Amino acid sequence: MDRLIINGGKQLKGTISVSGSKNATLPIAVAAAILADSSSVIHNVPNLNDIDSLCAVLEVLGATTKLENSTLYIEPGDRSAYEAPYDLVRKMRASIYVLGPLVARLGIAKVSFPGGCAIGPRPVDLHLKGLQQLGAEVEIDSGYIIARANRLVGAEMYLRGPHGSSVGATANVMMAATLADGTTTIRGAACEPEVADLANFLNAMGADIGGVGTSTLTIHGVKQLHGTEYTVIPDRIEAGTFMVAGAVTKGEVFVKGAPAEHLGATSEKLIEAGVQLDWADDGVRVRTPRDFQAVHIATDTYPGFPTDMQAQMMGLLSITPGISTITEGIYLDRFMHASELNRMGADIRVEGNHAVVRGKLRLSGAPVMASDLRAGAVLVLAGMAAAGETVVSRIYHIDRGYENIEQKLAGIGADIIRVSD
Ligand code: UD1
Repeated sequence: MDRLIINGGKQLKGTISVSGSKNATLPIAVAAAILADSSSVIHNVPNLNDIDSLCAVLEVLGATTKLENSTLYIEPGDRSAYEAPYDLVRKMRASIYVLGPLVARLGIAKVSFPGGCAIGPRPVDLHLKGLQQLGAEVEIDSGYIIARANRLVGAEMYLRGPHGSSVGATANVMMAATLADGTTTIRGAACEPEVADLANFLNAMGADIGGVGTSTLTIHGVKQLHGTEYTVIPDRIEAGTFMVAGAVTKGEVFVKGAPAEHLGATSEKLIEAGVQLDWADDGVRVRTPRDFQAVHIATDTYPGFPTDMQAQMMGLLSITPGISTITEGIYLDRFMHASELNRMGADIRVEGNHAVVRGKLRLSGAPVMASDLRAGAVLVLAGMAAAGETVVSRIYHIDRGYENIEQKLAGIGADIIRVSD
């Protein structure tokens, strides 16, 4: 298993580039493989383990996929396979995205129940509810979700759950509704940019989706969808992670390709914490002319502060004088990184879904373990800010979502290497 070895205390300086969005690419690839009746060419696709895992699912379902130089070529298959097996789905929760498109296209889908993960329970009730409202019959049998429908029929539905709208459920149901008879209205739809990007891709395939980017989506069903050529949006979470990297190392970093319009809440909290952000047409310059200041953060659905940036901000707040607080509103147990940061000298107390962070002047390097993707990212950030050596293990979590992380960070002055056992 690979590890990252970081010698902290180096100021980052230079330009670091943002890759395409992982979370936008995943459903887009599913739509291209299952809903379209001809090939698609998708640009700005990050070369990540999560994309490979999803492509393995799409290949089992008959599609042909090839990722070359950030372009993903997808050719739909012969449309007989409808089962996403446990061995593949357990590696890749987003495999649940095939459920709606399969039932819309083939009338049947059998997908392993994805289960929970390190950031807590992750139910799929809203995905199932939405598909049932489109007329699918859904049963759970031996760990599999089986959905059937002769023909999906457009419906009005409200898709918010106890923690707000669901990115996954909105995407799944929206994809299914594109081929349903009649009109579907999804109220309480997720407004995340990745959902909007999927909707734009579906429209480029010939779908008819209105209200893109808002909480009410109107989908007029069409008879068929065709392949298309498309460029995925930049990854706002990778961009936000690099912005924090510039800040925690007191460096001067230009994050090239950072999407200003998708980073509102993250930028606001960084500015409140004392980070200087100068936006240009093609990215943002991050500087730290002042001492950091404590801030209070509550994660929320878009355009609120993203849960996927919570861990990284906790890293920054660990070295920010004063008392900061973080309330996690989306995944209530998503604080696994706090105890690892405490091993590096941070002072973070977690109670329920609240964390109180008492800032220290400096962290010290230590052996630490990534428990999930963003929890892994903050350990890299903390390692770069800390005095001495940090060894991050279980970095397969980080590789799921960050393309060439050590090369990108080394390119702006980080002392970071990957070692294999
Ligand atoms: C997506 C992102 C993930 C991000 C999350 C929230 C992908 C591949 N992953 O995950 O990085 O952290 O959005 O922005 O895009 N919920 C239910 N019932 C459901 C579905 C979700 O109660 O059927 C709850 C979840 O437990 C959570 C909240 O709704 O509390 C939001 O989850 P959701 O938006 O669905 O997250 P994902 O799509 O799984």
